[in-house]
Amino acid sequence: MPKEIRKILVTSALPYANGPIHIGHLVEYIQTDIWVRFQKQRGHNCLYVCADDAHGTPIMLRAQQEGITPEKLIADTWVQHNADFADFDVAFDNFYSTHSDETKDFAELIYNRLHEKGHITKRTITQAYDPVKNMFLPDRFIKGECPKCGAADQYGDNCEACGATYAPTDLINAVSVVSGEKPIDKDSEHYFFKLTDFEAMLKEWTRSGHIQEQIANKLDEWFEAGLQDWDISRDAPYFGFEIPNAPGKFFYVWLDAPIGYMGSFKNLCDKKGLNFDEYWAKDSTAELYHFIGKDIVNFHALFWPAMLTGADFRTPTAVFAHGFLTVNGEKMSKSRGTFIKARTYLDHLNPEYLRYYFAAKLSSRVEDIDLNFEDFSQRVNTDLVNKVVNIASRCSGFIKKRFDGQLSASCAEPELFQEFIDASDAIAEHYESREYGKAMRAISALADKANQYIDDKQPWVLAKQEGSDEQLHAICSLGINLFYVIAAYLKPVVPAMVTKAETFLNVDALPWPNQLTPLLNHSINKFKPLMTRVDPDKLAALISASKESLEKIAPIKKTKKKAPETNEKPDMIEFDDFVKIDLRVALIEKAEHVEGADKLLRLTVSTGDESRQILAGIKSAYAPEDLEGRLTVIVANLKPRKMRFGISEGMVLAAGPGDEDIWILSPDNGAKPGMRIK
Ligand code: 2FM
Ligand code: ZN
Repeated sequence: MPKEIRKILVTSALPYANGPIHIGHLVEYIQTDIWVRFQKQRGHNCLYVCADDAHGTPIMLRAQQEGITPEKLIADTWVQHNADFADFDVAFDNFYSTHSDETKDFAELIYNRLHEKGHITKRTITQAYDPVKNMFLPDRFIKGECPKCGAADQYGDNCEACGATYAPTDLINAVSVVSGEKPIDKDSEHYFFKLTDFEAMLKEWTRSGHIQEQIANKLDEWFEAGLQDWDISRDAPYFGFEIPNAPGKFFYVWLDAPIGYMGSFKNLCDKKGLNFDEYWAKDSTAELYHFIGKDIVNFHALFWPAMLTGADFRTPTAVFAHGFLTVNGEKMSKSRGTFIKARTYLDHLNPEYLRYYFAAKLSSRVEDIDLNFEDFSQRVNTDLVNKVVNIASRCSGFIKKRFDGQLSASCAEPELFQEFIDASDAIAEHYESREYGKAMRAISALADKANQYIDDKQPWVLAKQEGSDEQLHAICSLGINLFYVIAAYLKPVVPAMVTKAETFLNVDALPWPNQLTPLLNHSINKFKPLMTRVDPDKLAALISASKESLEKIAPIKKTKKKAPETNEKPDMIEFDDFVKIDLRVALIEKAEHVEGADKLLRLTVSTGDESRQILAGIKSAYAPEDLEGRLTVIVANLKPRKMRFGISEGMVLAAGPGDEDIWILSPDNGAKPGMRIK
């Protein structure tokens, strides 16, 4: 048992109750769950709570689209989320909902205290309003053309094409995503939390070890820009909690979301007879940690500590931010089949593969991590199956067959066993500081050592030699004992595999290894494979099923038709794909007929510093002599293609319905060969 039992409360960010859990979310839940399991295994009193984030406009509109009440939508989603988490072995002590009495009570309490102390102010603001749906429109529910670059179909707050940020009123030809109507401007009174009242407190808090340095640096930018009052109210219709003494005004979803941590914990306290105040009162000595993604740092490291302070609650011990997940080096994409839902993954692969893989990649830094499928298979197969599980399978057969399942009475090399135990402080420190990658490497090094020991001793040779029984018994027993320690180290990461290992070893739940002594004169059970290699066919099936699942999602988005989601159609390319295309102005130096081709012309085009040949299907619109000396736009980085009539080294861009109506760039618009098109 640890010297001092710590009292720890841990949270992960609350998932929105209008969509499925996907592998991007799972980085955080797995990261947190590993940390919590580690603390529990060390004997600390550690509790892990979470909840669905059930309020807000998107949830209200989604329910309307589906023709159900928001209550039904969030109840159905809760069931799915709960099952996904359970099947990934994310073991919350409580998984609740922000749409709960407890969260409502705390939201009102916190608001009332802030109000009483003068930290709430009111003022009238002008916002975009949908005159058909009679509702104010959040920025994400307005689309139009970017005021800076003109890109179509951009959200009301920022342009995905050029990165510009702006107010929805700046959008050109803006429409409401909900009704397709042009929004109008409308005034309304809003409630604001005066964040500036907490500037001194926040400056101190963000620089006293509660957040990662990278995050503190980021927050300095906010301080430099000057803190702003935070708009915490939304007008009806809104799915959320009505603000006390403010009919028709509701708490903004982000006001009650972190309060949902308290609501979920209070619900747990009531079920388990725990004392809420011991964890949340101003003088609490318990530790409180929030695991979050890097995108929601402002809510957790500014608004939340300020709200808690203003309402006389304690502040978090630390907020741990992590980066995003990319898949094969790119943003998750529905069209590439890399937007993988938790359930789709579970239908095909063992969740512990992903838990192990994420652990191997995670550190304490706010860095994005990449899931590369080749690397994924290789690490799982090499580290877990070939190295770790193999130790047990190499030794167990001899123990079972030759020694009736009984381990030897003494330890063959106590120093070697002790070396494995002595690694416990360093590995514990890696887990504690969320350096899971380092922990996995240290454990893997022990597995190498155990395998090396078995390789050196060659039990399979001894097994054939007369009179070597005792030696064989001792070696295989030590092999099993080394596996025993490794399994204990891996328990926070692959709990299901370790549960099977515990059955095989015939032991109770494995504690942290600093408490282990060799199993002597101990009988073990028959070895059953603890984990199998990643099946490449199943991995391929997962990717293919993730592509298909797009079809199932699409109808729900249909009412957004007027402003479709840019990346949700399978035939659409990502912005990242688009930027790969090198578009250049080129001079058509020469144009010739291609013998035997009805539609093609052979063009020699120059981008200034080089000439190339392109076969272009524009014969119906242009005679060769009409083209020479004109400019066109080409895709300059298209790989040369071998066509029936020769090699084509690029693509000429032309537009029109066909036949004679195909137009290339006008000759007199100031373009110059080699110019890049942006
Ligand atoms: O960003 C999100 O997905 C939010 N639902 C997270 C809320 S975390 C907490 F504050 F509730
Ligand atoms: Zn733009």
